[in-house]
This record gives sequence, C-alpha cells and structure tokens, in this order.
Amino acid sequence: MSTGKLVVGITGASGAIYAQRFLIHAARHYKEIFLILSDQALQVAHQELGVKLDRKSFTLKDWLGEDLPNIRLLDSRDYFTPPASGSFRHDGMVIVPCSMGTVGRIAHGISNDLLTRSADVCLKERRNLILVPREMPMNVIMLRNLTTLAEAGAQIIPACPAWYNRPGSLEELADTVVARILQNLGIEDPLQKQWMAEE
Ligand SMILES: Cc1cc2nc3c(=O)[nH]c(=O)nc-3n(C[C@H](O)[C@H](O)[C@H](O)COP(=O)(O)O)c2cc1C
Repeated sequence: MSTGKLVVGITGASGAIYAQRFLIHAARHYKEIFLILSDQALQVAHQELGVKLDRKSFTLKDWLGEDLPNIRLLDSRDYFTPPASGSFRHDGMVIVPCSMGTVGRIAHGISNDLLTRSADVCLKERRNLILVPREMPMNVIMLRNLTTLAEAGAQIIPACPAWYNRPGSLEELADTVVARILQNLGIEDPLQKQWMAEE
C-alpha cells in the first residue's frame, strides 16, 4: 500500500539538473518528500546551477525556482529524523544523481550520514532503492559496487539521457532520465512516452 512518502538523496555527482527536474515532477505525485543533500551536492549544484553554497541561507526556491511545501529538507548529519529508521514507512528512496563515493559507501554498508543510512534502511527493509549514478569511464571497483547494489535489490538507473524523442532543451533531455525514475517507482506521468505505442 502506498504511503505517499518518498525519500530523496542528492549527492555530488555531476547532474544537479536531474535532481532539480526530478523533485519538481515527484512533488506532484507524493504527499511528502524527505530530502537529504550531501555537502558535496551543494558544491556541485553551485557550480552547475548557481545555487547558494551556504547551507544556512540556501532555500529550495534557489534550486527549484519555486517553493514546494511538501518537500522537507533534512540535515544529513541528523539521525533523529524519520528515514533513519526502518520503523518509518515510506515508498522508497531515490538518490539522484548518485556519486561513486556514495555508491561505494552503500555497497559496503558504511552508513556514515543520514543519506547512506536511509539507503541502508531501504535495502534491509526490502524497499525500493533507486540509484542514478553518473561517472565516465567507470573503473572495475565502481562496476563491482554497482553490481553488489543490484544484487542487494537496488535499481540502477544510470544518468544516460535518451535522444530518440529529439529533446529541444536541457530540461527535456534531463526529463528523459526523470521519466524512467518515475516509471520505476510505479508512477504514471505524462513525461513517459512509450516507444511506438498509440498515443
Ligand atoms: C564539479 C564536480 C563534478 C563531479 N562529478 C562527479 C561525477 O559525475 N560522478 C562522481 O561519482 N563524482 C563526481 N564528483 C566528485 C564527488 O563530488 C566526490 O567524490 C564527493 O566526495 C562525493 O561525495 P558525496 O557522495 O557525499 O556527495 C564531482 C565533483 C565536482 C566538484
């Protein structure tokens, strides 16, 4: 049964636009989103999107262009928050984009902050965990870590945008990845275009 609650992590892999687009779309489908940012996520978002660097002055409006009241920003060092425990029921977690550092920590059970702990909880509770890694090229350690996570039940959706529907903007290109994340969460959204299907 759906709880209408989703946990979202953002890490310091390139592709802050994927996080931005995913949150805007996911906020239309979920009652409540619990958002956790790594420190490095802010650095990369500052570089790529120009969002404020300072955690204290940073607001979601900087990132999303609008305030979305159903998104609750959590402190990545605070374990006194719902997703830190398996007793809190939610529909799963998406980490978008997901750095190779975070992939490695989750694959080896090193839950050293709220983000990696929340992912650990999803795996132990057999809940949906979707990782959107971005790196190129990948070394064999990264590939093994991703395989370990897939074997543990995570869904790996690499940030590989699709070109076949001829995206006309960066947002449309990023949305080809967002559509696949939503599809794998079981969410129907107009972003999803089915290849060669009747409209
Ligand atoms: C501009 C920039 C781009 C980066 N891009 C990537 C990337 O695409 N993939 C990746 O795994 N790490 C990337 N990194 C490195 C991560 O930010 C770094 O490994 C960091 O420790 C990840 O920490 P986190 O997982 O806690 O966010 C990038 C760093 C910077 C500054």
